[in-house]
Amino acid sequence: MKGEGGRRKAEDKGLKTKTFESAGAAFTGRLGFALGRQLNAGAVVGLIGELGTGKTVFVRGLARGLGLRGARVVSPTFTLVNEYLGKTPLYHFDLYRLGDPSELDSIDYRKYLSGGVCAVEWFERFPDAWPADAIVVRFEYLLPRRRTITISGESVAVERLKVRV
Ligand SMILES: Nc1ncnc2c1ncn2[C@@H]1O[C@H](COP(=O)(O)OP(=O)(O)OP(=O)(O)O)[C@@H](O)[C@H]1O
Ligand SMILES: [Mg+2]
Repeated sequence: MKGEGGRRKAEDKGLKTKTFESAGAAFTGRLGFALGRQLNAGAVVGLIGELGTGKTVFVRGLARGLGLRGARVVSPTFTLVNEYLGKTPLYHFDLYRLGDPSELDSIDYRKYLSGGVCAVEWFERFPDAWPADAIVVRFEYLLPRRRTITISGESVAVERLKVRV
């Protein structure tokens, strides 16, 4: 069967997928925190979902999980990337207004890839710009406060991911 085959293929690649139902922004933040605690410099987290589904809320939690307690995370609007420096720096990209991938090259975005954790909102705009082993987080709107959040990647960080409800 098609579905079964697809799943087996994902397992062959070592891809882990976990799905969570978020009942509010606080849960989404805790999920980001839990993932952030598992990540090291070099990790890339791609965030996919419509406007207002919780990508930035998730990144705020991720920043705290990386130990960046004082960081006031706001979406980069006039720049492509905001930098939060700490033991493990966070580079927060938002590609919503990006017209062309060459704009990424113009800021030499590759320099960010090894030095810290990259969180990329609107990742799907230019998925090829990022390493193939990026962790992908998908946000789907269910109800005003509910979201389905699916996290997948080859990383042990996904395998270990747990959230206290
Ligand atoms: N379960 C939930 N998870 C996350 N946010 C939620 C949830 N329920 C309600 N919200 C609200 O939805 C909004 C999400 O805003 P956020 O800025 O994180 O979205 P976004 O996906 O980053 O949007 P954009 O594409 O504009 O950057 C916040 O106002 C938040 O309080
Ligand atoms: Mg956002």
